[in-house]
Amino acid sequence: MSRVLSGTRPTGKLHLGHLVGALENFKKLQGHDSFFMIADLHALTTEYEHKTTIAEKTIEVVVDYLASGLDPDQCTIFIQSEVGEHATLGLLFSMITPLGWLERNPTYKDQLRELKGKDLHTHGFLGYPVLQAADIAIYKAEKVPVGEDQLPHLELTREIVRRFHHLYGKEIFPEPEAVLTPVPRVPGLDGRKMSKSYGNCIDLSDTREEVIRKVKTQMVTDPARKRKEDKGDPEKCPVFFYHKFFNPEKAEAVAHACRNASRGCVDCKMEMCEKLNLFMDPVRERRKTWMNKQKEIREILDKGAAKARSVARQTLTEVSKAMGLLA
Ligand code: TRP
Ligand code: SF4
Repeated sequence: MSRVLSGTRPTGKLHLGHLVGALENFKKLQGHDSFFMIADLHALTTEYEHKTTIAEKTIEVVVDYLASGLDPDQCTIFIQSEVGEHATLGLLFSMITPLGWLERNPTYKDQLRELKGKDLHTHGFLGYPVLQAADIAIYKAEKVPVGEDQLPHLELTREIVRRFHHLYGKEIFPEPEAVLTPVPRVPGLDGRKMSKSYGNCIDLSDTREEVIRKVKTQMVTDPARKRKEDKGDPEKCPVFFYHKFFNPEKAEAVAHACRNASRGCVDCKMEMCEKLNLFMDPVRERRKTWMNKQKEIREILDKGAAKARSVARQTLTEVSKAMGLLA
């Protein structure tokens, strides 16, 4: 059975995009030999100026993991910074990673441009993919469920691993491959990609009423349908994207009613909300059972870190021998 590893940066509450994009994929892979971490060190690469918030957000992500249906008996859930071997292997990999590989990384260049308010000209931020390579390699993971945006990082991981093997003449690591989700990007309320930084999210923690309110008052529709008599194009409407996903049996009828203007957008939205809420109800139920279970959650994380550490330590010993640090 292949070893699986993935992680999420704790930058805030998780949203519907995370759920259908990543977490559903995690869930399918649990029961394999699977490790799901909260990448708090990676969060620090961009949030280092606000030192007080990461720990709280980390726990929020753990609750979101559990609410989305990850089962701690079927996978290992842990916090990256609690397994020190990640940082050590990251440092060892940094010895062999050419600067040019990191400077050329398209994600690095995009982020420098996009996150203009932050000073990201740091060693840690440039080295983000080196630490990610260590996250994966320390468990010898073969499969990494991620979104498309992470493909450049996965490619760098493979390059670092190959260079390691070439330099030290020892094949320690598998070359990991991405497991992409079949779901295309989920649109947010404004029709752009759902993202916390755009403020267009449906959060996993939203109540039924919040979902209805957000969809009713904020979700955009085909701008051509100003009045009920105007015919619409469902392909230009995020509400329709949601129908396709959460209400697939009725999607064709919904598209038809939109094109003929035989039904208004408000009714169309209400039908969609009901299906979306049905999909989110089990997440809400599980959240209820995990809320206020701080002690149990801490136990899951302690157990997870211990399991992760025992695997990570063995790999680190092999690496240290290959690099000549250990006789
Ligand atoms: N970079 C990933 C993201 O932003 C998070 C991450 C950190 C990760 N380490 C990882 C993902 C290792 C997969 C494997 O989503
Ligand atoms: Fe969108 Fe439905 Fe309105 Fe068509 S009828 S524009 S699919 S909300």
